Amino acid sequence: MAAVLLYCRAGFENDAANEFMQQASERGVFGYVNAKKGSGYVIFECYQQEQAEQITNILPIEHLIFTRQWFASILHVQNMDIKDRVGEIIHALQQQDNFPVCGNLRVEHPDTDAGKELSKFCRKFTVPLRQSLRQHGFLAKQEQDNENELFVFFTDNQNCYVGVANKNNCSPLPLGILRLKAPSDAPSRSALKLEEAFQVFIPKIKHEERLRSGMNAVDLGACPGGWTYQLVKRGMFVQAIDNGAIDQSLMDTGQVTHFMADGFSYEPKKKNVYWLVCDMVEKPQRVALLMADWVAKEWCVEAMFNLKLPMKRRYESVMECMELMRDHLKENGCRKFSLRAKHLYHDREEVTVHLRRHRVS
Ligand SMILES: C[S@@+](CC[C@H](N)C(=O)[O-])C[C@H]1O[C@@H](n2cnc3c(N)ncnc32)[C@H](O)[C@@H]1O
Repeated sequence: MAAVLLYCRAGFENDAANEFMQQASERGVFGYVNAKKGSGYVIFECYQQEQAEQITNILPIEHLIFTRQWFASILHVQNMDIKDRVGEIIHALQQQDNFPVCGNLRVEHPDTDAGKELSKFCRKFTVPLRQSLRQHGFLAKQEQDNENELFVFFTDNQNCYVGVANKNNCSPLPLGILRLKAPSDAPSRSALKLEEAFQVFIPKIKHEERLRSGMNAVDLGACPGGWTYQLVKRGMFVQAIDNGAIDQSLMDTGQVTHFMADGFSYEPKKKNVYWLVCDMVEKPQRVALLMADWVAKEWCVEAMFNLKLPMKRRYESVMECMELMRDHLKENGCRKFSLRAKHLYHDREEVTVHLRRHRVS
């Protein structure tokens, strides 16, 4: 087989599949999809064998919204004898021509309830499998300088997909998931969404410059205050817009001004806002246009926001919003900007979007 295996949140298989098909076909890679709803992964079978590895090299993984992780799947090892799964995987690899030598091994499973039951097994199994892969020359003795990651993805305890990804174009995180600990003093668990968004969209070396203490921020739909909490924690001054009640301990910091106003008509008095964040539960197209408008009017430099997704045609709806924003920005004279969306681990029926205006020099 030659396929691309994509990891996604369970229930979003169709979205991940539609998005990948679109991106792959734009790059001349064609195939068909095998996706079981709720499985947490998608198999894209390539019509041309060599294209599975090619596409995972040429398409940057961060361009994909609904895919958390991927690899080019070369083998499907089925109905293994549980007494000798290592032996069966090695045997299957030995039948394969040109399986590349890899630097590192990742033994994983889908992020589903059934998949989670495999996590202990996967951890334990990694040790003897790694040893045997090294002995048989499938894993390099030294990890350094080898860009191939060898993936073994168990769908249950007798079946797995085996393949390869480029270390520089796959997620370094286990299962492609950024695990975060909920801060005990945050007013809501939503705080994790903004923390993850900052970590995913803003390179770590830029945090000091772009998430700086003393910056001004606006939070539309702020209550009870999880997102405001993240901004306050970074030393920012926040205008929190919401008709609801905001957490008192945030107000006590002296860094928050609460305005009981409508987020769609609020206008900052001084045009010194760097960050706009928005978590209002509203039609995604409406929020998308509002965000593009703030950036086009130069009311903020960067915006981080959620688009709540409809029940059906979620991928298409995100694409429509991205197009609306691009058009609105261009029509209003904003030519240099970056726009990216991701279905983050802490997102459910929503995606997180990052929009940034660049200075024209
Ligand atoms: C999902 S909650 C936000 C949670 C918040 N990000 C947190 O971390 O605590 C959505 C909030 O948006 C507010 N909201 C919805 N529509 C709004 C509007 N038009 N103007 C201002 N706030 C709005 C609601 O009152 C609600 O508090």
